[in-house]
Amino acid sequence: MAFRKCNRKGDIIMNKAHLVNRFFNEDCIGGCKEHFPDNSVDLIITDPPYGINGDTLHKHYNRKEEYVIDGYVEIPQKEYPNFSKEWIKQAERILKPGGSIYIVSGYTNLIDILNALRETSLKEINHIIWKYNFGVYTKQKFVSSHYHILFYTKPGTKHTFNTFCRFGPAEKGDNEKGSANYQDREDVWIINREYKPGEIKNKNELPSKLLTKMIQYSSNEEDLVCDLFLGSFSTAKIAIGLNRKATGFEISKNAFDHQIQEISKLREGSLLKSLRQPIVDIPRNEGRPWEPTEIQKVIYRFNSLITQFSKKEAIKILTEEFGRGTWSITKLLNKEHYKTNGTKHLSNY
Ligand SMILES: C[S@@+](CC[C@H](N)C(=O)[O-])C[C@H]1O[C@@H](n2cnc3c(N)ncnc32)[C@H](O)[C@@H]1O
Repeated sequence: MAFRKCNRKGDIIMNKAHLVNRFFNEDCIGGCKEHFPDNSVDLIITDPPYGINGDTLHKHYNRKEEYVIDGYVEIPQKEYPNFSKEWIKQAERILKPGGSIYIVSGYTNLIDILNALRETSLKEINHIIWKYNFGVYTKQKFVSSHYHILFYTKPGTKHTFNTFCRFGPAEKGDNEKGSANYQDREDVWIINREYKPGEIKNKNELPSKLLTKMIQYSSNEEDLVCDLFLGSFSTAKIAIGLNRKATGFEISKNAFDHQIQEISKLREGSLLKSLRQPIVDIPRNEGRPWEPTEIQKVIYRFNSLITQFSKKEAIKILTEEFGRGTWSITKLLNKEHYKTNGTKHLSNY
């Protein structure tokens, strides 16, 4: 695999055909200024230090410290607002227009990250709640078991969002109910942390399912994915496995030296075969404007079908006959119904 450990200064080659995976054992703020030109990264996924005294994290998480890599670098809480502004300013600068950023944050210093984002041109797309099964043990209050994921994009062009990369528009959800695509795109994600007994790890390793989801929706193969706080290099490992190029920073020498060995063993694209293939059957006329004659035909046909079938069945038949999606047919019928009857929905059927 083409990768480079970068301790020396040098420019990143930004021509896609020549991109290599590059990792820097440096502070990400200075490192970005030095190595990354403006508008050079397609996607940033990052999980900054939390500013909550990292050395006690293991107590919260009730785990064996001998397997945790020594050298997690924390940021003192009083420096957190300024630190957040500085790295987020760099993230904004290096993102390409239309590029996306996902920031994972606990609630303690979330306000500083939100304030820093407000000082940029980055646009909020979603505030995702990630619910996991590794809650801090408490007696006198509710158990904390969520993180925030702030999904923003850089304005300038349409952002990459691969709507059907995991589930097709007609696939059914859990227990054959609802739409699998809709459920996968709800903004509460229930993804468990991974237990890796006996393995060396970073203090806050993100689960591969979480990273895979963000990378699939917000990038394409060969895109450059950056993590400003690599930790265990989890973002980089999944990105490389999904045939993206990876880059980023980790300030801790211990963590960096251990993970750079691990990552050199990976094969580009090795995770692609494990991805679920969505069933994508896009209606043949999707996106084509409605012609007045076609609208008349749909209404005429609907009025005839509704004498024999339920509304749901009639709409399904119409989607097949007219090569349109369910949503598009329903919206049209509601609109025409409103014009004629002055009531909003086809509820009388
Ligand atoms: C929350 S952890 C990241 C965990 C990572 N997402 C994973 O899955 O393993 C934050 C990491 O940022 C590193 N770090 C702290 N300050 C940094 C800085 N200024 N530049 C780069 N890395 C830094 C810490 O040493 C720590 O490994």
